[in-house]
Amino acid sequence: MYTEEEIRAKIQEGRNFMKKPVVVDADYKTDQYLGKPQPPLFKDPMGGEQFDLPKNFEDLHIAHSFLEVINSRVSNRVYTEEPLTLLQLSYLLWCAQGVKGLRGKKYATLRTVPCGGARHQFELYLAVRNVEGLEPGYYHYLAQFHKLELIKADDGGMKDFIKASNSNQSFTANASVVFYVSMVAYRAEWRYGIFAHRVALIDAGYISENIYLAATAADLGSCAIGAINTALCNETFGLDGDEEYVVMSHPVGTIRPEDHQKELDFYAFIKEFDK
Ligand SMILES: Cc1cc2nc3c(=O)[nH]c(=O)nc-3n(C[C@H](O)[C@H](O)[C@H](O)COP(=O)(O)O)c2cc1C
Repeated sequence: MYTEEEIRAKIQEGRNFMKKPVVVDADYKTDQYLGKPQPPLFKDPMGGEQFDLPKNFEDLHIAHSFLEVINSRVSNRVYTEEPLTLLQLSYLLWCAQGVKGLRGKKYATLRTVPCGGARHQFELYLAVRNVEGLEPGYYHYLAQFHKLELIKADDGGMKDFIKASNSNQSFTANASVVFYVSMVAYRAEWRYGIFAHRVALIDAGYISENIYLAATAADLGSCAIGAINTALCNETFGLDGDEEYVVMSHPVGTIRPEDHQKELDFYAFIKEFDK
């Protein structure tokens, strides 16, 4: 139990983090400014079996106008647990973190999302439950090659992991695939040093929104998840939890219009507020 005073201190800590200025003051020099070597733009493959991802996105059924997608995007929490095709998964990965090119020969990657200083300090990991052509398991997205690599196969505990890693929000375990977004801290700190972290969280939001919009456009459902068990995520994907750590997750699943009422039921408690 926290005391009132401890709670106030923690809230202030959070406010201070958000208010941190991003203006570099004259006395402080980041590693980039000091001429230290730039860290790699991508995490090296972790050594598992690699899988090519299709890129014939024109074959996907995406029949919505941009405005329709914007207007119909919602958080979906009721999934019908059908398989995603490999092409759908590939398209979601591309929309979330796809590499479109380089700035300079090796200065930065240019991706399907914006990112402060084009640092793109994120890696994507997946808990694949139900995707055609992929063994259920834990995967790492190799953005530099647009491939997946297997970290480990599901040993039967994936539903439990997904639920626990999302702070026991059971609906997440019905997703066909769950995206986990990790932060590779020094990739951003090299350029922004002590100012890197607040901006990095803003950056993560673009990945989330692209997953939302891509899912909506393909008639799939998704929901951003901030309430994650970071330690469990890090352990499962083999991250050290300091140089690299998971910051959010995104279940994606198949949906159907008939479940609209069940979606609304997630907010049944609001009736109390409306009285
Ligand atoms: C950063 C972020 C974290 C979120 N975390 C959760 C979460 O842990 N659990 C959940 O059910 N919804 C979560 N949501 C979804 C929000 O509850 C949802 O966006 C909000 O209620 C508005 O509904 P809409 O997305 O359908 O417009 C999160 C959304 C964002 C952007």
